[in-house]
Amino acid sequence: VRDGILEIRRVEAADAESVASLLAQLGYPASVDEVERRLERLLASEADVQLVAVTDGEVVGLVGLQVGLALEYDEPVGKLSELVIEEGHRGRGVGRALVAAVEREARRRGCCLLYLTTAARRKDAHAFYERIGFEETGKRFVKTLA
Ligand SMILES: CC(C)(COP(=O)(O)OP(=O)(O)OC[C@H]1O[C@@H](n2cnc3c(N)ncnc32)[C@H](O)[C@@H]1OP(=O)(O)O)[C@@H](O)C(=O)NCCC(=O)NCCS
Repeated sequence: VRDGILEIRRVEAADAESVASLLAQLGYPASVDEVERRLERLLASEADVQLVAVTDGEVVGLVGLQVGLALEYDEPVGKLSELVIEEGHRGRGVGRALVAAVEREARRRGCCLLYLTTAARRKDAHAFYERIGFEETGKRFVKTLA
């Protein structure tokens, strides 16, 4: 990344506090306890990978990959989720580096494509995804069940 060394590693339950802060910045506030429980659940799942970006000992970014099977393809597909960079660390290549790491992991697991959904209001994120090689192909419809 620009002006600094960045480590990208698997998330750990001990990252719950930083992860909670990042999730709040993404619009999903939750307590540290709740996040810790969700992390433990995800860490036990083979299909899910959560990565964090760390610089100077501080967690500054988060991203998830969910690998799933589909009838449309022979190979599994990868869904990129929950990408968020700490506010003071945006615009220096951390997001690009995290997505590249997810892409490597998705390729390693044999995925034939990587996709994501993003809210219509997140114009900045749309510009970012296009800049790093994603193509806009559709809309997302959601029905809240709980
Ligand atoms: C969107 C987000 C993840 C991008 O991460 P980032 O670390 O700031 O982005 P990077 O510095 O890695 O940018 C990578 C490239 O995208 C470009 N880019 C980033 N944001 C952009 C924007 N708003 N408009 C146009 N280009 C943009 C950068 O200029 C850079 O291009 P370059 O490498 O060719 O110079 C980050 O800003 C963020 O966390 N936003 C709030 C949460 C969010 O919207 N998450 C996505 C939910 S779907």
